[in-house]
Amino acid sequence: MIADFQVWSKNHQAHIETSLETLLPTAKFSPDHLHDAMRYAVLGGGKRIRSLLAFAAGELSMADEERVTIAAVAVELIHAYSLVHDDLPCMDDDVLRRGKPTCHVEYNEAIALLVGDSLQSLAFQLLAEYRLAVTPQVQLEMIKRLAQAAGSRGMAGGQAIDLANIGKTLSLPELEFMHIQKTGALIRSAVMIGACCGNSLNDSQLKNLDHFAKYIGLAFQVVDDVLDTEATSETLGKTAGKDAKNNKPTYVSILGVKQARKLAEKLRHDAYQTLEIFGAAAARLRQVTDFIIQREC
Ligand code: IPE
Ligand code: IPE
Ligand code: MG
Ligand code: MG
Ligand code: MG
Repeated sequence: MIADFQVWSKNHQAHIETSLETLLPTAKFSPDHLHDAMRYAVLGGGKRIRSLLAFAAGELSMADEERVTIAAVAVELIHAYSLVHDDLPCMDDDVLRRGKPTCHVEYNEAIALLVGDSLQSLAFQLLAEYRLAVTPQVQLEMIKRLAQAAGSRGMAGGQAIDLANIGKTLSLPELEFMHIQKTGALIRSAVMIGACCGNSLNDSQLKNLDHFAKYIGLAFQVVDDVLDTEATSETLGKTAGKDAKNNKPTYVSILGVKQARKLAEKLRHDAYQTLEIFGAAAARLRQVTDFIIQREC
């Protein structure tokens, strides 16, 4: 019987928090203000969904938890960097993140830029520093996956499309492409590199897991768009209603809330289907999927 999701997720969120705390440089080292700002941006907030996905995928391949932890930390660092940059005045110009002033508000814009740069470097340093996979080839594959997910054909590329389309109406395929890149790619990589820490999966298992990750990566941003209109800033810990205010093309602006919710449900269904070949071993991934769709923040 699979342990209660609430208990499992709480334990893993706490474990990731402690690991991030240990692996981030402290303000004891120079430049102390940069290290302080890095810790501010990463610690003490966030749902750690990408980590939960990495752990759940690691359960499929019977991966060592400490290996998955390093992989999950790397993804969280890239994610935190993407949020710091996403909030900058030249991007979404947000003042609230994870219930606190955004990094550039608390420090300044130059430091926020450098926090992002440094978190990104640290992520790859950790992936190269620790033994994470059965063979060095698999580990190199993991590094490549995360690099692609963060780069111009992943998160950074998606962010460029997002900014280039302010005030424009995108077609559904265009919107889907943007979301798959800006948010989906990193989520997809969290699943895949979590699984890569364990025993090797066969080609059809890998293909199905990758399709699963693609569906939930897209679903995640669809729900993020819905919450931006439906939830309060207090619940979200970030400014609600910002997409409409910034004239962003979103699933809500194109489809409306009801259809966007329907799409998220369809994606959940598609994601579940891709997990069928794994049977009970994918129970945890199904739970994280439900969390992604049903979350309130
Ligand atoms: C927010 O991600 C940014 C998007 C990619 C939509 P999360 O909702 O996972 O943010 P945290 O980590 O919980 O703060
Ligand atoms: C951001 O999407 C995706 C990233 C790559 C950070 P959003 O701009 O919708 O994220 P929030 O709503 O500010 O968290
Ligand atoms: Mg944005
Ligand atoms: Mg934003
Ligand atoms: Mg958003």
